Formats: sequence, C-alpha cells, structure tokens
Amino acid sequence: MRTKIVAGNWKMNLDRDQSIQLVNAISAALQNHDLQGNRVMVFPPFVNISAAQQASNRDLRVEVGAQNMHQAASGAYTGEVSAQMLLSNEVTTVILGHSERREYFYESDALLKEKVDAAIAHGMEVVFCFGEKLEERNTGNHFKVVEDQLKKAIFHLHEGDWEKIILAYEPVWAIGTGMTASPEQAQEMHAFIRATIAQAYSREMAEGISILYGGSVKPGNAVEIFGKPDVDGGLIGGAALQAADFIAIIKAL
Ligand code: 13P
Repeated sequence: MRTKIVAGNWKMNLDRDQSIQLVNAISAALQNHDLQGNRVMVFPPFVNISAAQQASNRDLRVEVGAQNMHQAASGAYTGEVSAQMLLSNEVTTVILGHSERREYFYESDALLKEKVDAAIAHGMEVVFCFGEKLEERNTGNHFKVVEDQLKKAIFHLHEGDWEKIILAYEPVWAIGTGMTASPEQAQEMHAFIRATIAQAYSREMAEGISILYGGSVKPGNAVEIFGKPDVDGGLIGGAALQAADFIAIIKAL
C-alpha cells in the first residue's frame, strides 16, 4: 500500500509568527484525528523552517520540508542553500521542479536532474513536481510533455532510489487559477504516469509510488480528487495557508 500524503507548499507566504500559528493550529486539529498512516507535510520558506519545526515538535506528525535547494555541496552561490545545510537542520524532504521554479527561475530539466541527484546522494526525500501548460494540453501534447519531464530528470535513477521519490503532478494551468483539473483528468494523467513508470521499471515498483495532485485543491473538491484510485493525496498551495481549509483537506484523505 502506498502512502497517502497531504502537503502544503507555502510558497513565499507567511512571516515567522504566522508560520508558528498555522503549524500550531494544524497540530491541534490532528491531536484527535487518526491519520491511519497518512502523512502531513508543510513546506515553509527557508527562514521559517526552524520556527515551523519547533511549533510541530509537540506533534511530530506535521513534517516540515524545504521548497528548493541548490545542487552543489557548498561554495560561492549567494542566496542558495545546500542539501547538507538542510540535513543539518533536520530537514529531510525537499520539493524540486515546481513550475514556478521552472518558469521564474529558469530551472531546466537538466538542472533539475542535478538537483535530484544531489538530494538522493544525501539520502533526502524529493517531492518532484511536473505538469503541462495550458497550450500543451490544448494541443494534445500533455502526456508527451509529462513523460519528457520525468524521463529527463528522474528516470535515470536506480530502482532503489525511488524509495525517496514522491511525485506531484501539477498542471500549470490549474495552479493558483481556481481552474482545477477534473477528478477524471487527474486520474487519467496519474494512471498514465504510473504506467510510464511501470514500463521503465516494473509494475510492482510503480504501484508503490505516491503520486500527488496539485492545482487549486480546496476543501470542496479534495474528496472527489483524492477518491480516484491513482491519486495518493495532494500538494496544496493557497488552501494550505488557512488552517481550516488545510485541515479539511487532510480529513478528505
Ligand atoms: P494552488 O493550490 O494555490 O493552486 O497551488 C498549487 C501548487 O502550486 C502547490 O505546489
């Protein structure tokens, strides 16, 4: 049975106090909630990671990860953070490949491959994001685009490395737009992703990979989306910033 996950990508939002308040609220709501083996994660900006960790200490079920990292071990890269730095702060999960990193910070498939390799070499867990743009879906190229993104950045990994990989399919047109993929569209793509992994590796391995959906997941649509057989939870943006919404989405699992 693969793990189901609800993860909050806070992007560049919330100051220190707000971060603490939000983690406290999530922890409090989970006190009497049986997660049944499911995982809850939050990804604050680097500077607020330690505050969020401290707030979650009472309830370790809220895991805290990072939104990005640099591929090099150390060096003259002003403004960047390495895997070793994250590990030394007890951060063991990192998001890589988010469409906002690809678009605004020009992160290419080749660069993402380097980042994935650096994270895996350090024993870190990676939430690897990918997904097509609207014009790519409208021209019928969405399956090809998704397959290419996976092949170029993670399909070189050894089968054993995949224990550390969580996938997050995030169609770019659904991110922050309120225009969510329908549960059927999500299921169709997730099944395709799983079949592609099965072809490259094995069916058994593909069945064990958690594939999250991201893009305008809200309390009102989470139950339907998470109900699809190949959707193993969600990577949540806007709705992860409001305790009540995020908790409702966790409960939708
Ligand atoms: P929204 O939930 O705000 O659409 O963002 C999704 C996302 O980008 C999560 O990484």
